[in-house]
Amino acid sequence: MGHNTISITDNRTGAQYEVPITDGTIRATDLKQIKTSPDDFGLMTYDPAFLNTASCRSSITYIDGDKGILRYRGYPIDQLAENCSFLEVCYLILNGELPNQSQLEEWIRLVKRRTMLHETSKKFLEGFRYDAHPMTMLISCVAALSSVYPEARHVHDAANRKKQITRLIAKMPTITAYCYRHHFGLPYIYPDNDLSFTENFMNMMWKMLEPKYVANPILARALDVLFILHADHEQNCSTNTMRAVGSSQADPYVSVAAAAAALSGPLHGGANEEVLHMLSEIGSKDNIPAYIKSVKDGHGKLMGFGHRVYKNYDPRARIIKQTADEVFSVTGLNPKLEIAKELERIALEDEYFVKRKLYPNVDFYSGIIYEAMGFRPSLFTVLFAIPRVVGWLAQWQEMITDPEQKIARPRQIYTGSDERNFVPMTQRA
Ligand code: SDX
Repeated sequence: MGHNTISITDNRTGAQYEVPITDGTIRATDLKQIKTSPDDFGLMTYDPAFLNTASCRSSITYIDGDKGILRYRGYPIDQLAENCSFLEVCYLILNGELPNQSQLEEWIRLVKRRTMLHETSKKFLEGFRYDAHPMTMLISCVAALSSVYPEARHVHDAANRKKQITRLIAKMPTITAYCYRHHFGLPYIYPDNDLSFTENFMNMMWKMLEPKYVANPILARALDVLFILHADHEQNCSTNTMRAVGSSQADPYVSVAAAAAALSGPLHGGANEEVLHMLSEIGSKDNIPAYIKSVKDGHGKLMGFGHRVYKNYDPRARIIKQTADEVFSVTGLNPKLEIAKELERIALEDEYFVKRKLYPNVDFYSGIIYEAMGFRPSLFTVLFAIPRVVGWLAQWQEMITDPEQKIARPRQIYTGSDERNFVPMTQRA
């Protein structure tokens, strides 16, 4: 066997090149030497939507799409979902190791200290109509926090980064709850730091006039598991956005706002809300064959199905399905679950989906659980953003501290007009 190189012959010139292979990749810049003449720019790679391009080195999350494997810092997702709290997994994703007891207690203390929002956020949120989409409100409110913490722009100061990261993780549930309460004209509920991360979120969402909110422990735990499952997912669309915006040294608040904007799209994090709309539209098992036919005829997609990386069952979907049973033992069965299960059964036997390796992804069952827990579909993507903020921030910090990284600026293949002269208005057709 030869060395770790690839031999390239440019048939335009007959020239031959040896390009090193590292970690299963070649550096695109190593192709620039391949020219047809001295003033030729050199060969580039062309990879719309980055189907086969690594943008970074990362030690945070590992996915094997064919085997349906997902690990955070080497730990299989099912083991973390079974044994950890969400904040424990946050610590792991940010720091690379599971915390010991004192580290975990200190981390929880730091997060609880930061759960309150600056009162100006209330005035900001009051500017939205009652029916504004909560993702729009979240994106705006997070960006606005950049004005509350201007020191966040010192992105190369590690202690400052840690403070902003802690603030963002702690405040996402508070912002979400405020958005929800704004819709109903309910008074905002302040954080109750006696409660766990997810119990406190439920408190801020649903506390009414009772002196102290008491969360159902099964639902609080189910939410913790769902947050663990959504925490990071290597270089997905919103994380790529976080890295790109952060590469200009923009502060973490506006970078998270940009990442959340990417997440809001129906092909990404917005899919969980679209799944619920799809299941409502289908209405009953009897209508499933007709709906699947319409998808196969090119009328829309089966939301919650398919994935750029997983060409096998999304391991998160499997765990979410198990969590559903625990939630429904408290809330009662969500009738949409039966439609979803029948839809999955039929789709997994249908050649169209089998050939394209389309399986249920993380969004297929999550919305059914969220709806059963009392969350409105318009909040589902916000419930995705709450935990994903730790993944965005860990990836952002990894990019900021990576000596190989610099401002993200792809090249292009120009397909426009050659040079031409200005045409005065009187001479235009
Ligand atoms: C998330 O990247 C991540 O890690 C994302 C995520 C994370 O944790 O961050 O996992 C979260 O975003 C999950 C995905 C949620 N989105 C949806 O459920 C929306 C529906 N899914 C599709 O839009 C699609 O599957 C994507 C966007 C998820 C993946 O798209 P790709 O990789 O670009 O695949 P593709 O569009 O090129 O599809 C390949 C073929 C096409 O058919 P042909 O043109 O070959 O005939 O499969 C078809 C597609 O039309 N196809 C689907 C389909 N998904 C793909 N057909 C019907 N229903 C679908 N859901």
